[in-house]
Amino acid sequence: MTLMPASEMGADPASLEPIETASRDEIEALQLSRLKWSLKHAYENVDHYKAAFDAKGVTPNDLKDLSDLSKFPTTSKADLRDHYPFGMFAVPREQVVRVHASSGTTGKPTVVGYTDRDLSVWADVVARSMRAAGTRRGDIVHVAYGYGLFTGGLGAHYGAERLGCTVIPVSGGMTARQVQLIQDFKPRAIMVTPSYFLNIIDEASRQGIAPEELSLEIGIFGAEPWTNEMRGQIQERSGLHAVDIYGLSEVMGPGVANECIETQDGLHIWEDHFYPEVIDPETGEVLPEGDFGELVFTSLTKEAMPVVRYRTRDLTRLMPGTARTMRRMEKVTGRSDDMLIIRGVNLFPTQIEEVLVRIPELSPHYQLELVKEGNLDHLKVHCELLPADGPMHDALKEGAATTLSKAVKDLYGVSVEPVVHEPGEIARSEGKAQRVVDSRQ
Ligand code: DLL
Repeated sequence: MTLMPASEMGADPASLEPIETASRDEIEALQLSRLKWSLKHAYENVDHYKAAFDAKGVTPNDLKDLSDLSKFPTTSKADLRDHYPFGMFAVPREQVVRVHASSGTTGKPTVVGYTDRDLSVWADVVARSMRAAGTRRGDIVHVAYGYGLFTGGLGAHYGAERLGCTVIPVSGGMTARQVQLIQDFKPRAIMVTPSYFLNIIDEASRQGIAPEELSLEIGIFGAEPWTNEMRGQIQERSGLHAVDIYGLSEVMGPGVANECIETQDGLHIWEDHFYPEVIDPETGEVLPEGDFGELVFTSLTKEAMPVVRYRTRDLTRLMPGTARTMRRMEKVTGRSDDMLIIRGVNLFPTQIEEVLVRIPELSPHYQLELVKEGNLDHLKVHCELLPADGPMHDALKEGAATTLSKAVKDLYGVSVEPVVHEPGEIARSEGKAQRVVDSRQ
């Protein structure tokens, strides 16, 4: 199957919402009036925000222009946990028509809520994201993000319906059946984590089906960090266009930002609903456009659970718009929580991914294991050979390990220990991949 080039798959300008082509002045005027509303709504209806604003000596009236937002307190995941389950809601619980929750790794999950109108806005921004990714009304869309408390499945689902697609609500898991359904229903687009998509195309290959022969033309991949090298690998193996979708439950769910297929140059933030800042994670200072730091969001229209300067822990930078006037964020390849410190060197799992997926003998599945060696942390890189028979097997393994450790040492100045497994031995993801295992205890 020959795909249309991504550069020609952009949305017809006539089908864009007016705000997608509005001038910066128009966007900023809208943001300012919405921000005033949102701060007031949070302050008057959520005890936490009242107390936090008062402690900083600010009131919503102190916001005269957008840059005044930096005077307001930031909000963290801990603040949400402290008010578990419904303490951050700004409307009576009876007006909350849905909750989602993120499965915190420790302690209580964080709960988020939506009014009827919030759900409608969410469907709109996911539909806009899907259109930016090249999906069109009438397309068949296979949703393999998990349905349930995770926002991925239902978020994608209602966005796809809003766009006017035929939605196949498969959810995650039962990988052989995923392949069967793709073969039978012939979706044009798939929405799934990139790591689970790799698992699905491996399963197709195992069944003797060439992934590039499947009907898929567009993959809308997110919910976890993935590199441009991984994008190249996925596109090459499956012959679809791989587009990045970003979001987080505290701010809404998927559809906070999305790449435009015609440029694939970072994700346009849907700034009419989510106001972004990038701050220095140490000092909290707001950084100028283009500087790298922690992404912070303030919701502009959310009723049930407004968030004020929510610290995402995701590291990126803001850039001017290209295919749309709204600003872009660089692909998120790391969270501050995921940073490893190996013998004094800071390292993100995606930096290993960048190197690993370029080694032709290796499959793109990997897992990092932190172990103790004496008093020092040591990193094992578990990876696996691509299926290949023959007498060269052991030599291939050794060669791949040497290439990997040398490349990591040369690029990042840190020694890691590659452990090359047999094909299929690395645990497969059915949702968000667990990239790091801590065996230091
Ligand atoms: O993962 C929402 C989502 C679902 C986004 C489906 C995209 C597709 P949470 O479970 O709350 O929500 O996790 C949010 O996942 O702060 C990032 O660290 C990470 N993340 C989400 N999208 C991306 C992406 C959903 N495109 C957390 N690239 C965020 C990198 C991502 N990291």
